[in-house]
Amino acid sequence: MSFTVAIDGPAAAGKGTISRAVAVHFGFAHLDTGLLYRAVGARMLDGLDPVDAARTLEPSVLERGDLRAPEVAQAASKVAAIPEVRAALVDFQRAFAARAGGAVLDGRDIGTVICPEAPAKLFVTASDEVRAERRFLELRQKGVETSFEEVLAEMRERDARDSARATAPLRPAEDAVILDTSRLSIEAAVGAAIETIRTRHPA
Ligand code: DC
Repeated sequence: MSFTVAIDGPAAAGKGTISRAVAVHFGFAHLDTGLLYRAVGARMLDGLDPVDAARTLEPSVLERGDLRAPEVAQAASKVAAIPEVRAALVDFQRAFAARAGGAVLDGRDIGTVICPEAPAKLFVTASDEVRAERRFLELRQKGVETSFEEVLAEMRERDARDSARATAPLRPAEDAVILDTSRLSIEAAVGAAIETIRTRHPA
């Protein structure tokens, strides 16, 4: 039986952490769909046409070491506004969502476009400052030289682009449960997500 959990939200709201923990808890597979756009963005920075890159994307490219770099995040957000790029990535995501045993997909348009029929949808968000602080600490830990202000500005630019685009903009599905993690510990946020999903899971 397939059971899809759709987790959407802006950058650094806690989607990744929550999605991984939810997948482990329920024994579901997990797909970070942002990595698909990051992989296309990275190939565009290599000089490839983004639509060709999306159409010929091999799963091995998701293991590239540079996908978390800030310039790749910006490139991902730019290629994500191209309708042909998004279209090329739909089948892979839907096939993943339909796999037996359950799947968690996190991204921007999972509940609205990729899996509108998903029985469990979460929209994970947090204030700009909290999200920028989290991303700043994460990047600093990785040795990336940056400042809080720079991270905040880049994040706002990316969120504005992701929300304003014509195709599959970032927004909560009408039936999504909003989870604001600004004042929640990781444990509390994960617990709230698991509770929401449990109420919709048949087992
Ligand atoms: O989740 P992330 O920060 O790794 O995503 C990188 C970019 O990819 C994000 O700025 C917008 C785009 N994206 C998207 O448009 N749709 C998705 N489902 C996931 C990511």
